Amino acid sequence: MTGDTAAVTGATGFLGTHLCDHLRSEGWEVRGLSRSGPGRDDPEDVEWYVGDLFDRGVLESLVDDTDVVFHLAGASLWNADPETVHRVNRDGTATLLEACAATDAGRVVFTSTSGTRRPNGSDPVADETNVAEPIGAYQASKARAESLVDRYAERTGDAVTTHPTSIFGPGDRNFTAQLLAMGIERTMPAYLPGGLSIVGVDDVVAGLVAAAERGERGEHYILGGENLTYDRAVSRIGDALDGAPARVPVPPTAIHAAGPVAELVDATTGRRVFPFDRRMARLATQRLFYTSRKAHEELGYTYRPLEAHLPETAAWYRTEFG
Ligand SMILES: NC(=O)c1ccc[n+]([C@@H]2O[C@H](COP(=O)([O-])OP(=O)(O)OC[C@H]3O[C@@H](n4cnc5c(N)ncnc54)[C@H](OP(=O)(O)O)[C@@H]3O)[C@@H](O)[C@H]2O)c1
Repeated sequence: MTGDTAAVTGATGFLGTHLCDHLRSEGWEVRGLSRSGPGRDDPEDVEWYVGDLFDRGVLESLVDDTDVVFHLAGASLWNADPETVHRVNRDGTATLLEACAATDAGRVVFTSTSGTRRPNGSDPVADETNVAEPIGAYQASKARAESLVDRYAERTGDAVTTHPTSIFGPGDRNFTAQLLAMGIERTMPAYLPGGLSIVGVDDVVAGLVAAAERGERGEHYILGGENLTYDRAVSRIGDALDGAPARVPVPPTAIHAAGPVAELVDATTGRRVFPFDRRMARLATQRLFYTSRKAHEELGYTYRPLEAHLPETAAWYRTEFG
């Protein structure tokens, strides 16, 4: 699709920055939505549209006459309160879809989360069919947005939904920074008992483009990586980077108790600490493993091991936090 035009919401964020850089390097014309106008660290050679997800007029100009609309903009509990999370993820997606319906917009590639799916007990890994009861505002708002995208694909226009798992890579001051800290800092002496699917940001970017090019209208694709317990992930980071990985497991009961503590820290200091609340504390003790088989078979999606992403990510981490 070289030479085509993409609109990217969330273009100033962690994933959006990597996506814009990749699209530009492949010869795409890229339009980005930015709330504050382009900043020093934002991707270059992007045509910026200044506004937010509720500026219908700006959105219409952004998406009109495009080949693909990558909808990445979203709020999470790392940086927003539950009400804002609902507003941005659910209502913002509704506004964007209205703008697409009113213009000559290309295929919408929506970035949801693997969190709307969970292993169901009989199978240790979840696929796209394992729709789960949402826990917390983030999952609930993404689930609502998915329904809006499904309905748009059914009745109005072309759209597919992607479900990245936990994205690892340079520029992410939240999950990536916390995981790296557990792998290389002596000040982080403990790890969580559960597990998760960790995917490199470059692999997710390739998956988003593959979904745009080869995805089936109305379909959902998990874009995951290696399924690792926290213990294993932290050890491998420590081994690869010659760090002093956390070796002491936190017992599940302590994690369950950590939920209310995290809520208190949030309320009193305004600082975000994972897990964010009681129900999410329980999630942190589970193995949230996923299969990307469908994306592999239908999109040609592949992912690389954690170590492939470490040199660049660790170099970024040391510059930011060293
Ligand atoms: N990171 C992960 O592990 C992960 C995993 C699964 C799914 N996802 C999803 O992937 C997407 C990108 O995640 P990320 O990690 O790159 O997040 P991020 O770094 O926090 O970036 C979020 C982006 O959304 C924009 N945004 C927030 N509120 C907005 C609003 N009201 N109007 C317009 N733009 C708004 C932000 O703009 P500003 O720069 O102006 O704040 C930023 O560009 C999100 O939808 C997220 O839910 C992420």
